[in-house]
Amino acid sequence: MAIKKRWAKRKIKRDQQKKAEYVKANSTRIINNTDDFATLESYRAARTNIMFSLPDEKACKKLIITSAMQGDGKTTVAINLALIFAKTNLKVLLIDADLRLPMVHTYLNVKNGFGLSDVLVGRADVKDAIVQTSGVDIITAGHIPQNPAELLASDAMTTLVNELSVNYDYIFIDTPPVGILVDAMEILKPASGVILVVRQKNTLHRAVHSAIVALEFAKAKICGFILNDSDLIKYHYKKRKYSTYQYHYNYNYYGNPKQNIRQHPGV
Ligand SMILES: Nc1ncnc2c1ncn2[C@@H]1O[C@H](COP(=O)(O)OP(=O)(O)OP(=O)(O)O)[C@@H](O)[C@H]1O
Ligand SMILES: [Mg+2]
Repeated sequence: MAIKKRWAKRKIKRDQQKKAEYVKANSTRIINNTDDFATLESYRAARTNIMFSLPDEKACKKLIITSAMQGDGKTTVAINLALIFAKTNLKVLLIDADLRLPMVHTYLNVKNGFGLSDVLVGRADVKDAIVQTSGVDIITAGHIPQNPAELLASDAMTTLVNELSVNYDYIFIDTPPVGILVDAMEILKPASGVILVVRQKNTLHRAVHSAIVALEFAKAKICGFILNDSDLIKYHYKKRKYSTYQYHYNYNYYGNPKQNIRQHPGV
């Protein structure tokens, strides 16, 4: 009996250590004031471009962050955008709508108690589901439900986003990859636009193409692309002898995929 207890204790400790290591490894991609200038500058450029990408939207802007494939950096980018927007004294809300593999709470090291799923099924009040960190309000995913797509596609989700938009300037919604997202395409209804994350050496060209087709079919407004984990600009600007900060960009925001992506550093 005593051996069993000791074994159980050791296992809990091992699991806790593993989780702590995982959180530490993944949190490093979340921006903070000590980050290098280029990374922060890239996110600032993204912020400016996003602000100008929806000129007709005067009230709260609700942006869905998605990508063609798993692991492209949707969650990382969604969190970093929320943080960089909050730095300009805007009221920002980040919603973890990836009810299949929620990660926002892990990356930000906040508690995932009552969250989106609980609010949608009426188990919790939205006020109790909001947690705050670094000037950003966050609604974590909550308990993982059996029917994530149906919950996201529900009228309750549309109503919730519309109700919340009264209190915020920007709402960023972290979602699963497009293939899963379009199963719940109703979530696109209350959104002002979609930002597609593309990751160098991860996202396949044909997957991006399929994602665009699927989003256009769902009548989503694609406001832009974020190229994550890229050194594309590095080589381009190196050739032209641009100043250092420009060719060390890791994150780049592309206002319009059809435009020439090299027209402006970071745009
Ligand atoms: N620019 C980057 N440089 C290095 N690592 C990164 C970068 N962006 C994301 N990562 C890492 O890649 C992994 C996947 O990132 P993230 O969880 O943001 O992707 P995702 O698209 O949300 O994944 P999923 O499809 O599972 O939801 C994480 O470990 C994250 O820390
Ligand atoms: Mg994710």
